[in-house]
Amino acid sequence: MEATQTILVVDDEASNRLSMERILQREGYAVLSAANGAEGLALLRKESVALLLTDLKMPGMSGIELLKAARKLVPGVEVIVLTAYGTVETAVGAMKEGAYDFISKPLKRIELLNAVKNALEKQALSSENRRLRERLEAEGDRGIIGTSSSMRKVLELVSQVAPSSASVLIEGASGTGKELIAQAIHDLSPRRTRRFVKLSLAALPETLVESELFGYEAGAFTGAAGRREGRFELADGGSLFLDEVGEMSPALQVKLLRVLQEGEFERLGGTRTISVDVRIVAATNKNLEEEVAAKRFREDLYYRLNVIKIQLPPLCERGEDIPLLVNHFLRVYARKNERPFKAMSREAMELLMRHPWPGNVRELENTIERAVVLSLHDEIRPEDLPATLRGGMKTAARELCFPVGTPIREVELTLIRETLRYTDGDKNLAAHLLGINPRTIYRKLEEIGTDDQG
Ligand SMILES: Nc1ncnc2c1ncn2[C@@H]1O[C@H](COP(=O)(O)OP(=O)(O)OP(=O)(O)O)[C@@H](O)[C@H]1O
Ligand SMILES: [Mg+2]
Repeated sequence: MEATQTILVVDDEASNRLSMERILQREGYAVLSAANGAEGLALLRKESVALLLTDLKMPGMSGIELLKAARKLVPGVEVIVLTAYGTVETAVGAMKEGAYDFISKPLKRIELLNAVKNALEKQALSSENRRLRERLEAEGDRGIIGTSSSMRKVLELVSQVAPSSASVLIEGASGTGKELIAQAIHDLSPRRTRRFVKLSLAALPETLVESELFGYEAGAFTGAAGRREGRFELADGGSLFLDEVGEMSPALQVKLLRVLQEGEFERLGGTRTISVDVRIVAATNKNLEEEVAAKRFREDLYYRLNVIKIQLPPLCERGEDIPLLVNHFLRVYARKNERPFKAMSREAMELLMRHPWPGNVRELENTIERAVVLSLHDEIRPEDLPATLRGGMKTAARELCFPVGTPIREVELTLIRETLRYTDGDKNLAAHLLGINPRTIYRKLEEIGTDDQG
Protein backbone atom coordinates (compact mmCIF):
# COMPACT_ATOMS: atom_id res chain seq x y z
CA MET A 1 0.00 0.00 0.00
CA GLU A 2 1.14 3.55 -0.67
CA ALA A 3 1.37 6.51 1.73
CA THR A 4 -1.10 6.70 4.63
CA GLN A 5 -4.63 7.05 3.43
CA THR A 6 -6.74 9.62 5.24
CA ILE A 7 -10.19 8.78 6.60
CA LEU A 8 -12.86 11.43 7.10
CA VAL A 9 -15.52 10.76 9.74
CA VAL A 10 -18.78 12.72 9.53
CA ASP A 11 -21.37 12.34 12.30
CA ASP A 12 -23.50 14.89 14.10
CA GLU A 13 -23.32 12.93 17.35
CA ALA A 14 -20.12 13.92 19.08
CA SER A 15 -19.82 10.74 21.14
CA ASN A 16 -20.07 8.53 18.05
CA ARG A 17 -17.61 10.67 16.15
CA LEU A 18 -15.10 10.57 18.96
CA SER A 19 -15.30 6.84 19.48
CA MET A 20 -14.75 6.18 15.75
CA GLU A 21 -11.86 8.60 15.70
CA ARG A 22 -10.30 6.88 18.68
CA ILE A 23 -10.68 3.38 17.30
CA LEU A 24 -9.21 4.34 13.94
CA GLN A 25 -6.39 6.45 15.33
CA ARG A 26 -5.35 3.68 17.65
CA GLU A 27 -4.89 1.50 14.53
CA GLY A 28 -2.60 4.13 13.07
CA TYR A 29 -4.98 5.67 10.55
CA ALA A 30 -4.93 9.39 9.79
CA VAL A 31 -8.39 10.66 10.74
CA LEU A 32 -10.24 13.92 10.10
CA SER A 33 -13.71 14.59 11.43
CA ALA A 34 -16.66 16.84 10.82
CA ALA A 35 -19.98 17.37 12.62
CA ASN A 36 -22.06 17.88 9.46
CA GLY A 37 -22.08 17.46 5.69
CA ALA A 38 -21.04 21.01 4.86
CA GLU A 39 -17.99 20.79 7.09
CA GLY A 40 -17.22 17.41 5.63
CA LEU A 41 -17.32 18.73 2.06
CA ALA A 42 -15.03 21.60 3.01
CA LEU A 43 -12.50 19.08 4.30
CA LEU A 44 -12.84 16.91 1.19
CA ARG A 45 -11.98 19.95 -0.90
CA LYS A 46 -8.89 20.78 1.13
CA GLU A 47 -7.47 17.42 2.10
CA SER A 48 -6.79 14.29 0.13
CA VAL A 49 -9.27 11.83 1.60
CA ALA A 50 -9.31 8.14 0.64
CA LEU A 51 -12.33 7.02 2.65
CA LEU A 52 -15.42 8.82 3.92
CA LEU A 53 -17.32 7.36 6.86
CA THR A 54 -20.63 9.12 7.21
CA ASP A 55 -23.73 8.83 9.30
CA LEU A 56 -26.88 8.68 7.20
CA LYS A 57 -29.26 10.69 9.35
CA MET A 58 -27.92 14.12 10.07
CA PRO A 59 -29.57 17.52 10.32
CA GLY A 60 -28.96 19.65 7.23
CA MET A 61 -27.22 17.65 4.53
CA SER A 62 -28.08 13.94 4.77
CA GLY A 63 -25.52 11.19 4.50
CA ILE A 64 -26.78 10.27 1.02
CA GLU A 65 -26.48 13.85 -0.17
CA LEU A 66 -22.98 14.04 1.22
CA LEU A 67 -22.11 10.75 -0.45
CA LYS A 68 -23.24 12.01 -3.85
CA ALA A 69 -21.48 15.35 -3.47
CA ALA A 70 -18.28 13.65 -2.25
CA ARG A 71 -18.13 11.24 -5.17
CA LYS A 72 -18.55 14.12 -7.58
CA LEU A 73 -15.85 16.13 -5.88
CA VAL A 74 -13.37 13.26 -5.44
CA PRO A 75 -14.24 10.47 -7.90
CA GLY A 76 -11.78 8.06 -6.28
CA VAL A 77 -13.06 8.35 -2.72
CA GLU A 78 -14.64 5.27 -1.12
CA VAL A 79 -17.63 5.72 1.18
CA ILE A 80 -18.96 3.70 4.09
CA VAL A 81 -22.27 4.72 5.62
CA LEU A 82 -23.35 4.26 9.22
CA THR A 83 -26.92 3.37 9.78
CA ALA A 84 -29.05 3.07 12.87
CA TYR A 85 -30.70 -0.26 13.65
CA GLY A 86 -33.79 -0.82 11.51
CA THR A 87 -32.92 1.47 8.59
CA VAL A 88 -31.20 -1.05 6.41
CA GLU A 89 -33.23 -0.01 3.37
CA THR A 90 -31.67 3.42 3.44
CA ALA A 91 -28.30 1.77 3.66
CA VAL A 92 -29.08 -0.33 0.60
CA GLY A 93 -30.07 2.88 -1.16
CA ALA A 94 -26.69 4.31 -0.25
CA MET A 95 -24.94 1.28 -1.77
CA LYS A 96 -26.82 1.95 -4.97
CA GLU A 97 -25.44 5.47 -4.92
CA GLY A 98 -21.95 4.02 -4.80
CA ALA A 99 -21.25 3.46 -1.11
CA TYR A 100 -18.76 0.64 -0.64
CA ASP A 101 -20.32 -0.78 2.51
CA PHE A 102 -22.56 0.03 5.45
CA ILE A 103 -22.15 -0.55 9.15
CA SER A 104 -25.07 -0.64 11.53
CA LYS A 105 -25.09 1.13 14.85
CA PRO A 106 -24.33 0.54 17.63
CA LEU A 107 -20.81 0.31 16.31
CA LYS A 108 -18.74 -2.77 16.80
CA ARG A 109 -15.03 -2.16 16.72
CA ILE A 110 -14.12 -5.23 14.68
CA GLU A 111 -16.86 -4.62 12.17
CA LEU A 112 -15.73 -1.03 11.71
CA LEU A 113 -12.08 -1.99 11.29
CA ASN A 114 -12.83 -4.76 8.80
CA ALA A 115 -15.00 -2.56 6.64
CA VAL A 116 -12.44 0.23 6.74
CA LYS A 117 -9.57 -2.07 5.87
CA ASN A 118 -11.39 -3.55 2.86
CA ALA A 119 -12.55 -0.18 1.59
CA LEU A 120 -9.03 1.25 1.82
CA GLU A 121 -7.56 -1.72 -0.03
CA LYS A 122 -10.04 -1.26 -2.83
CA GLN A 123 -9.35 2.47 -2.90
CA ALA A 124 -5.59 1.95 -3.13
CA LEU A 125 -5.98 -0.52 -5.96
CA SER A 126 -8.29 1.60 -8.03
CA SER A 127 -6.29 4.77 -7.52
CA GLU A 128 -3.12 2.92 -8.57
CA ASN A 129 -4.95 1.75 -11.70
CA ARG A 130 -6.15 5.24 -12.43
CA ARG A 131 -2.65 6.65 -12.02
CA LEU A 132 -1.21 4.06 -14.39
CA ARG A 133 -3.90 4.63 -16.95
CA GLU A 134 -3.29 8.38 -16.86
CA ARG A 135 0.40 7.80 -17.27
CA LEU A 136 -0.11 5.43 -20.16
CA GLU A 137 -2.40 7.92 -21.86
CA ALA A 138 0.04 10.77 -21.32
CA GLU A 139 2.81 8.70 -22.82
CA GLY A 140 0.68 7.60 -25.72
CA ASP A 141 2.22 10.10 -28.04
CA ARG A 142 5.78 9.01 -27.42
CA GLY A 143 5.29 5.32 -27.00
CA ILE A 144 2.49 3.06 -28.04
CA ILE A 145 0.20 4.43 -30.70
CA GLY A 146 -3.33 3.15 -31.09
CA THR A 147 -6.87 4.25 -30.40
CA SER A 148 -8.67 1.41 -32.19
CA SER A 149 -10.87 -0.56 -29.85
CA SER A 150 -8.59 -3.60 -30.02
CA MET A 151 -5.53 -1.54 -29.06
CA ARG A 152 -7.44 0.27 -26.33
CA LYS A 153 -8.27 -3.12 -24.87
CA VAL A 154 -4.62 -4.12 -25.03
CA LEU A 155 -3.52 -0.92 -23.29
CA GLU A 156 -6.20 -1.29 -20.66
CA LEU A 157 -4.96 -4.81 -19.93
CA VAL A 158 -1.37 -3.58 -19.79
CA SER A 159 -2.19 -0.99 -17.14
CA GLN A 160 -4.18 -3.56 -15.20
CA VAL A 161 -1.50 -6.23 -15.09
CA ALA A 162 1.60 -4.06 -14.86
CA PRO A 163 1.49 -3.51 -11.06
CA SER A 164 1.43 -7.23 -10.27
CA SER A 165 4.23 -9.74 -10.70
CA ALA A 166 2.10 -12.19 -12.67
CA SER A 167 3.67 -13.76 -15.75
CA VAL A 168 2.42 -12.31 -18.99
CA LEU A 169 2.36 -14.06 -22.35
CA ILE A 170 2.20 -11.80 -25.39
CA GLU A 171 1.04 -13.43 -28.60
CA GLY A 172 1.09 -11.68 -31.93
CA ALA A 173 2.42 -11.91 -35.46
CA SER A 174 5.83 -10.55 -36.33
CA GLY A 175 6.08 -6.77 -36.04
CA THR A 176 2.85 -6.24 -34.10
CA GLY A 177 4.64 -4.59 -31.16
CA LYS A 178 5.20 -7.45 -28.71
CA GLU A 179 8.48 -6.10 -27.43
CA LEU A 180 7.06 -2.60 -27.11
CA ILE A 181 4.23 -3.93 -24.94
CA ALA A 182 6.64 -6.00 -22.84
CA GLN A 183 8.72 -2.89 -22.18
CA ALA A 184 5.58 -0.93 -21.26
CA ILE A 185 4.58 -3.58 -18.73
CA HIS A 186 7.97 -3.22 -17.09
CA ASP A 187 7.98 0.57 -17.23
CA LEU A 188 4.57 0.78 -15.59
CA SER A 189 5.39 -1.73 -12.87
CA PRO A 190 6.97 -1.12 -9.47
CA ARG A 191 9.95 -3.01 -10.94
CA ARG A 192 10.77 -0.13 -13.29
CA THR A 193 13.68 0.97 -11.07
CA ARG A 194 15.34 -2.41 -11.70
CA ARG A 195 16.41 -3.94 -14.98
CA PHE A 196 14.37 -5.04 -17.99
CA VAL A 197 16.47 -7.89 -19.38
CA LYS A 198 15.79 -9.44 -22.78
CA LEU A 199 16.69 -12.76 -24.30
CA SER A 200 15.53 -14.21 -27.57
CA LEU A 201 15.23 -17.98 -27.42
CA ALA A 202 15.33 -18.40 -31.18
CA ALA A 203 18.52 -18.27 -33.19
CA LEU A 204 20.72 -19.40 -30.29
CA PRO A 205 21.99 -22.96 -29.83
CA GLU A 206 20.57 -24.65 -26.76
CA THR A 207 23.77 -24.70 -24.71
CA LEU A 208 24.25 -21.02 -25.30
CA VAL A 209 20.70 -20.19 -24.26
CA GLU A 210 21.30 -22.08 -21.06
CA SER A 211 24.46 -20.24 -20.16
CA GLU A 212 22.80 -16.96 -21.09
CA LEU A 213 19.84 -17.68 -18.83
CA PHE A 214 21.59 -19.17 -15.83
CA GLY A 215 25.18 -17.96 -16.12
CA TYR A 216 28.21 -20.10 -15.44
CA GLU A 217 31.12 -20.64 -13.09
CA ALA A 218 34.74 -20.50 -14.20
CA GLY A 219 35.67 -23.72 -15.97
CA ALA A 220 32.08 -24.85 -16.47
CA PHE A 221 32.95 -25.62 -20.07
CA THR A 222 35.81 -25.02 -22.45
CA GLY A 223 36.16 -21.33 -22.91
CA ALA A 224 34.40 -20.40 -19.67
CA ALA A 225 37.35 -18.50 -18.30
CA GLY A 226 35.62 -16.44 -15.65
CA ARG A 227 32.36 -16.62 -13.77
CA ARG A 228 29.37 -14.98 -15.41
CA GLU A 229 25.93 -13.98 -14.21
CA GLY A 230 22.99 -15.14 -16.30
CA ARG A 231 19.97 -13.10 -17.37
CA PHE A 232 17.92 -14.40 -14.44
CA GLU A 233 20.40 -12.89 -12.00
CA LEU A 234 20.66 -9.65 -13.94
CA ALA A 235 16.88 -9.33 -13.88
CA ASP A 236 16.59 -9.91 -10.11
CA GLY A 237 13.96 -7.50 -8.78
CA GLY A 238 13.10 -6.55 -12.36
CA SER A 239 11.61 -8.22 -15.42
CA LEU A 240 12.92 -10.82 -17.85
CA PHE A 241 11.59 -10.68 -21.41
CA LEU A 242 11.78 -14.10 -23.04
CA ASP A 243 11.24 -13.54 -26.74
CA GLU A 244 10.24 -16.30 -29.19
CA VAL A 245 9.47 -18.57 -26.28
CA GLY A 246 7.80 -21.04 -28.65
CA GLU A 247 11.20 -21.97 -30.06
CA MET A 248 12.55 -23.62 -26.91
CA SER A 249 13.86 -27.17 -27.02
CA PRO A 250 12.10 -29.70 -24.76
CA ALA A 251 15.15 -29.95 -22.49
CA LEU A 252 15.28 -26.22 -22.03
CA GLN A 253 11.54 -26.11 -21.32
CA VAL A 254 12.11 -28.41 -18.34
CA LYS A 255 14.89 -26.22 -17.01
CA LEU A 256 12.89 -23.05 -17.38
CA LEU A 257 9.89 -24.65 -15.70
CA ARG A 258 11.97 -25.44 -12.65
CA VAL A 259 13.11 -21.84 -12.23
CA LEU A 260 9.57 -20.58 -12.65
CA GLN A 261 8.22 -23.04 -10.12
CA GLU A 262 10.91 -22.67 -7.51
CA GLY A 263 12.41 -19.28 -8.23
CA GLU A 264 15.86 -20.82 -7.96
CA PHE A 265 18.59 -22.40 -10.07
CA GLU A 266 22.32 -23.04 -10.21
CA ARG A 267 24.84 -21.51 -12.56
CA LEU A 268 26.28 -23.97 -15.10
CA GLY A 269 29.10 -25.80 -13.39
CA GLY A 270 28.02 -24.37 -10.04
CA THR A 271 26.58 -25.97 -6.93
CA ARG A 272 25.27 -22.93 -5.04
CA THR A 273 21.53 -22.47 -5.41
CA ILE A 274 20.63 -18.94 -6.39
CA SER A 275 17.17 -17.58 -5.77
CA VAL A 276 15.77 -14.64 -7.65
CA ASP A 277 12.64 -12.51 -7.80
CA VAL A 278 11.96 -12.04 -11.49
CA ARG A 279 8.81 -11.15 -13.39
CA ILE A 280 8.55 -13.07 -16.64
CA VAL A 281 7.12 -11.54 -19.78
CA ALA A 282 7.20 -13.99 -22.67
CA ALA A 283 6.40 -13.40 -26.32
CA THR A 284 5.72 -15.62 -29.28
CA ASN A 285 4.42 -15.35 -32.81
CA LYS A 286 3.05 -18.87 -32.52
CA ASN A 287 -0.22 -19.95 -31.01
CA LEU A 288 1.16 -21.65 -27.90
CA GLU A 289 -2.09 -23.42 -27.16
CA GLU A 290 -1.77 -25.16 -30.51
CA GLU A 291 1.86 -25.95 -29.76
CA VAL A 292 0.72 -27.58 -26.52
CA ALA A 293 -1.96 -29.57 -28.33
CA ALA A 294 0.67 -30.74 -30.83
CA LYS A 295 2.90 -31.76 -27.88
CA ARG A 296 5.67 -29.42 -28.95
CA PHE A 297 5.30 -27.26 -25.88
CA ARG A 298 4.94 -28.45 -22.28
CA GLU A 299 1.52 -27.82 -20.88
CA ASP A 300 2.77 -27.13 -17.36
CA LEU A 301 5.21 -24.52 -18.66
CA TYR A 302 2.47 -23.00 -20.76
CA TYR A 303 0.31 -22.48 -17.68
CA ARG A 304 3.21 -20.92 -15.82
CA LEU A 305 3.85 -18.42 -18.59
CA ASN A 306 0.25 -17.79 -19.50
CA VAL A 307 -1.10 -16.35 -16.27
CA ILE A 308 -2.22 -13.36 -18.29
CA LYS A 309 -2.37 -13.39 -22.05
CA ILE A 310 -2.17 -10.32 -24.20
CA GLN A 311 -3.01 -10.85 -27.84
CA LEU A 312 -1.77 -8.26 -30.29
CA PRO A 313 -3.99 -7.98 -33.36
CA PRO A 314 -2.37 -7.78 -36.80
CA LEU A 315 -2.23 -4.26 -38.21
CA CYS A 316 -4.87 -5.02 -40.83
CA GLU A 317 -7.37 -5.52 -38.01
CA ARG A 318 -6.72 -2.04 -36.68
CA GLY A 319 -6.75 -0.04 -39.89
CA GLU A 320 -7.99 3.08 -38.13
CA ASP A 321 -4.65 3.26 -36.28
CA ILE A 322 -2.70 3.48 -39.56
CA PRO A 323 -2.94 7.29 -39.99
CA LEU A 324 -1.88 7.80 -36.36
CA LEU A 325 1.07 5.46 -36.75
CA VAL A 326 2.03 7.09 -40.05
CA ASN A 327 2.10 10.56 -38.50
CA HIS A 328 3.99 9.27 -35.50
CA PHE A 329 6.68 7.69 -37.68
CA LEU A 330 6.80 10.76 -39.94
CA ARG A 331 7.71 12.85 -36.90
CA VAL A 332 10.13 10.31 -35.47
CA TYR A 333 12.07 9.82 -38.70
CA ALA A 334 12.09 13.48 -39.70
CA ARG A 335 13.77 14.20 -36.37
CA LYS A 336 16.12 11.22 -36.59
CA ASN A 337 17.28 12.12 -40.10
CA GLU A 338 17.34 15.85 -39.34
CA ARG A 339 14.85 16.65 -42.02
CA PRO A 340 11.89 19.02 -41.94
CA PHE A 341 8.60 17.34 -41.13
CA LYS A 342 6.64 16.42 -44.24
CA ALA A 343 3.01 15.39 -44.27
CA MET A 344 1.65 12.42 -46.18
CA SER A 345 -0.30 13.42 -49.28
CA ARG A 346 -3.87 12.22 -49.39
CA GLU A 347 -3.19 9.80 -52.27
CA ALA A 348 -0.20 8.30 -50.49
CA MET A 349 -2.16 7.90 -47.27
CA GLU A 350 -4.88 6.10 -49.20
CA LEU A 351 -2.35 3.61 -50.52
CA LEU A 352 -1.01 3.07 -47.01
CA MET A 353 -4.48 2.43 -45.69
CA ARG A 354 -5.23 -0.06 -48.43
CA HIS A 355 -2.09 -2.16 -48.01
CA PRO A 356 -2.55 -5.42 -46.04
CA TRP A 357 0.76 -5.01 -44.10
CA PRO A 358 1.82 -8.63 -43.66
CA GLY A 359 4.86 -7.32 -41.75
CA ASN A 360 2.57 -5.26 -39.51
CA VAL A 361 3.78 -2.13 -37.69
CA ARG A 362 7.43 -2.87 -38.38
CA GLU A 363 6.78 -2.95 -42.14
CA LEU A 364 4.82 0.28 -41.92
CA GLU A 365 7.60 1.89 -39.91
CA ASN A 366 10.26 0.88 -42.46
CA THR A 367 8.08 2.13 -45.30
CA ILE A 368 7.71 5.53 -43.67
CA GLU A 369 11.40 5.83 -42.84
CA ARG A 370 12.29 5.07 -46.43
CA ALA A 371 9.77 7.62 -47.71
CA VAL A 372 11.05 10.32 -45.35
CA VAL A 373 14.57 9.81 -46.63
CA LEU A 374 13.68 9.56 -50.33
CA SER A 375 11.01 12.22 -50.66
CA LEU A 376 11.99 15.21 -52.81
CA HIS A 377 8.83 17.29 -52.46
CA ASP A 378 7.30 19.13 -49.56
CA GLU A 379 4.88 16.30 -48.94
CA ILE A 380 5.20 12.56 -49.34
CA ARG A 381 3.69 11.33 -52.58
CA PRO A 382 2.73 7.88 -53.85
CA GLU A 383 5.98 7.70 -55.87
CA ASP A 384 7.92 7.84 -52.57
CA LEU A 385 6.31 4.57 -51.52
CA PRO A 386 7.48 1.09 -52.59
CA ALA A 387 6.16 -0.18 -55.92
CA THR A 388 4.33 -3.04 -54.22
CA LEU A 389 2.07 -0.51 -52.55
CA ARG A 390 1.55 1.63 -55.62
CA GLY A 391 0.95 -1.24 -57.98
CA GLY A 392 -1.37 -2.78 -55.44
CA MET A 393 -4.65 -1.90 -57.04
CA LYS A 394 -4.08 -2.81 -60.65
CA THR A 395 -1.48 -5.56 -60.65
CA ALA A 396 -1.79 -7.56 -57.49
CA ALA A 397 -5.20 -8.32 -56.07
CA ARG A 398 -5.37 -6.75 -52.67
CA GLU A 399 -5.82 -8.90 -49.63
CA LEU A 400 -8.74 -8.44 -47.31
CA CYS A 401 -8.59 -9.16 -43.65
CA PHE A 402 -11.52 -9.65 -41.28
CA PRO A 403 -11.57 -10.30 -37.56
CA VAL A 404 -13.13 -13.61 -36.55
CA GLY A 405 -16.82 -13.07 -35.96
CA THR A 406 -17.41 -10.54 -38.71
CA PRO A 407 -20.98 -10.98 -39.98
CA ILE A 408 -20.99 -12.94 -43.25
CA ARG A 409 -23.10 -10.23 -44.86
CA GLU A 410 -20.45 -7.64 -44.16
CA VAL A 411 -17.69 -9.90 -45.48
CA GLU A 412 -19.71 -10.59 -48.61
CA LEU A 413 -20.44 -6.94 -49.34
CA THR A 414 -16.86 -5.84 -48.75
CA LEU A 415 -15.57 -8.65 -50.93
CA ILE A 416 -17.89 -7.70 -53.77
CA ARG A 417 -17.09 -4.02 -53.46
CA GLU A 418 -13.33 -4.61 -53.44
CA THR A 419 -13.52 -7.03 -56.36
CA LEU A 420 -15.41 -4.41 -58.35
CA ARG A 421 -12.73 -1.89 -57.52
CA TYR A 422 -10.15 -4.36 -58.76
CA THR A 423 -12.00 -4.91 -62.04
CA ASP A 424 -12.56 -1.17 -62.46
CA GLY A 425 -16.29 -1.65 -62.08
CA ASP A 426 -16.64 -4.51 -64.58
CA LYS A 427 -19.50 -6.44 -62.99
CA ASN A 428 -19.28 -9.45 -65.32
CA LEU A 429 -15.59 -9.91 -64.70
CA ALA A 430 -16.12 -9.48 -60.96
CA ALA A 431 -18.89 -12.08 -60.96
CA HIS A 432 -16.64 -14.41 -62.90
CA LEU A 433 -13.78 -13.98 -60.41
CA LEU A 434 -16.12 -14.49 -57.48
CA GLY A 435 -17.69 -17.53 -59.07
CA ILE A 436 -21.21 -16.15 -58.83
CA ASN A 437 -23.89 -15.12 -61.27
CA PRO A 438 -23.66 -11.49 -62.49
CA ARG A 439 -27.30 -11.12 -61.49
CA THR A 440 -26.36 -11.91 -57.92
CA ILE A 441 -23.89 -9.04 -58.04
CA TYR A 442 -26.61 -6.67 -59.22
CA ARG A 443 -28.90 -7.83 -56.45
CA LYS A 444 -26.24 -7.47 -53.78
CA LEU A 445 -25.34 -4.05 -55.09
CA GLU A 446 -28.91 -2.94 -54.61
CA GLU A 447 -28.59 -4.02 -51.02
CA ILE A 448 -25.42 -1.99 -50.58
CA GLY A 449 -27.23 1.01 -52.02
CA THR A 450 -25.38 3.86 -53.64
CA ASP A 451 -22.08 3.70 -51.77
CA ASP A 452 -20.74 0.96 -54.07
CA GLN A 453 -19.28 3.50 -56.45
CA GLY A 454 -16.41 4.58 -54.14
N1 LIG B 1 1.47 0.55 -31.40
C1 LIG B 1 2.67 0.98 -31.78
N2 LIG B 1 2.98 2.28 -31.71
C2 LIG B 1 4.20 2.72 -32.10
N3 LIG B 1 5.16 1.94 -32.56
C3 LIG B 1 4.93 0.64 -32.64
C4 LIG B 1 3.68 0.08 -32.26
N4 LIG B 1 3.72 -1.25 -32.42
C5 LIG B 1 4.94 -1.52 -32.91
N5 LIG B 1 5.68 -0.40 -33.04
C6 LIG B 1 7.06 -0.31 -33.57
O1 LIG B 1 7.17 -1.32 -34.58
C7 LIG B 1 8.41 -2.00 -34.49
C8 LIG B 1 8.17 -3.47 -34.24
O2 LIG B 1 7.66 -3.65 -32.92
P1 LIG B 1 8.19 -4.81 -31.98
O3 LIG B 1 9.64 -5.02 -32.14
O4 LIG B 1 7.69 -4.53 -30.59
O5 LIG B 1 7.37 -6.00 -32.62
P2 LIG B 1 7.42 -7.57 -32.30
O6 LIG B 1 6.01 -8.00 -32.21
O7 LIG B 1 8.31 -7.81 -31.14
O8 LIG B 1 8.04 -8.14 -33.64
P3 LIG B 1 8.88 -9.52 -33.88
O9 LIG B 1 7.93 -10.65 -33.68
O10 LIG B 1 9.28 -9.37 -35.31
O11 LIG B 1 10.00 -9.50 -32.91
C9 LIG B 1 9.19 -1.32 -33.38
O12 LIG B 1 10.04 -0.35 -33.91
C10 LIG B 1 8.10 -0.67 -32.53
O13 LIG B 1 8.59 0.47 -31.88
MG1 LIG C 1 10.10 -8.85 -31.07
